[in-house]
Amino acid sequence: TWKSAKGEVGAAVDYALDAGYLHVDCAMVYGNEKEIGEIFKKKIGTTIKRSDLFVTSKLWNTYHHPDDVAKALKKTLADLHLDYLLTFFLFFFDLYLIHWPLTFERGDNFFPLNQDGSMRYGEAYPLESTWKAMEQCVETGLTRHIGLSNFNSKQVFFFHLSIQILCCCKLKIAHILKTAKIRPAVLQCESHPYFTQEKLVHFCKDNGIVFTAYSPLGSRDRPWAKPTDPSLFDDPLLKDIAKSKSTGVANVRFFFVLIRFQIQRGHIVLPKSTQKTRLKSNLEVWHFELSDEEMRAIGSLNRNWRACLPVIQLPDGTTTSRDAKHPFWPFAEEF
Ligand code: A2P
Repeated sequence: TWKSAKGEVGAAVDYALDAGYLHVDCAMVYGNEKEIGEIFKKKIGTTIKRSDLFVTSKLWNTYHHPDDVAKALKKTLADLHLDYLLTFFLFFFDLYLIHWPLTFERGDNFFPLNQDGSMRYGEAYPLESTWKAMEQCVETGLTRHIGLSNFNSKQVFFFHLSIQILCCCKLKIAHILKTAKIRPAVLQCESHPYFTQEKLVHFCKDNGIVFTAYSPLGSRDRPWAKPTDPSLFDDPLLKDIAKSKSTGVANVRFFFVLIRFQIQRGHIVLPKSTQKTRLKSNLEVWHFELSDEEMRAIGSLNRNWRACLPVIQLPDGTTTSRDAKHPFWPFAEEF
């Protein structure tokens, strides 16, 4: 539901649920959870069971203070009209992610700015303390799973080391320091053929974390797109593979290639659309298959190109990275 405008998102989710989509990926910062909630209210219990639906949302950067985490989740639950409906497993929510490892100034202004127009980061709370508050949301039944989004492997590693054992030979005792009681279930990051994230994906596999691919179609509707950016849509290999298939309408096959590329790698995939015909056709991807050779060829297109690097516009009209100066900026690491 990212980039899905108010006034459009409700109709899209309404249609998507009728068409057979079961996973709705939301976030408070997308500014459209209330409209999605109206659709959940209308459909759950009538056309769809709560237990058949999997809803994800995300903790925004201004709510990392441990005292704010459950409050933010409860606000999302209320907006989505899920605060009175228990899932099959007696939790209100399916999956709640920390949206970014970095913090903005605490408060309800999602994008607080400094006087010079740059982002006001505020205090960078230790990730452990925010994670502990996330764990409490599981313990109190607010959400069944918790996870991360836009974290690099080193930032995730902290959570992966769920129990550290320090042997103190002198005293012949073992101290067990619990850094995290609950491991992240999911890491949601950008992935498509120009940014396959091979190393991060392996890291997740090795650590039992499910990888979710956002922007699998290259996110051409991203707000900071430039005409000079690489375009998956002009890629001859992707076009040739799509052309060579007989399943599906010609121009739709291209999207099948991008979606199947993620599915066949074992990822959860979030292809975004607010258009009914596209929502419907993208779902027909189950009848389509890529051979091992095609998968390898598509994987070799990787050029470590990120489509999703948020920028902000300064008062003088120039743009600057929104987040790169934050001490927890995740993308300076290789993966
Ligand atoms: P729209 O929402 O107008 O349908 P990503 O999932 O990588 O973020 O990419 C989303 C972009 O891809 C949106 O611009 C969306 O447009 C477009 N899109 C999604 N499915 C299709 C499709 N089947 N054909 C053409 N464009 C599509």
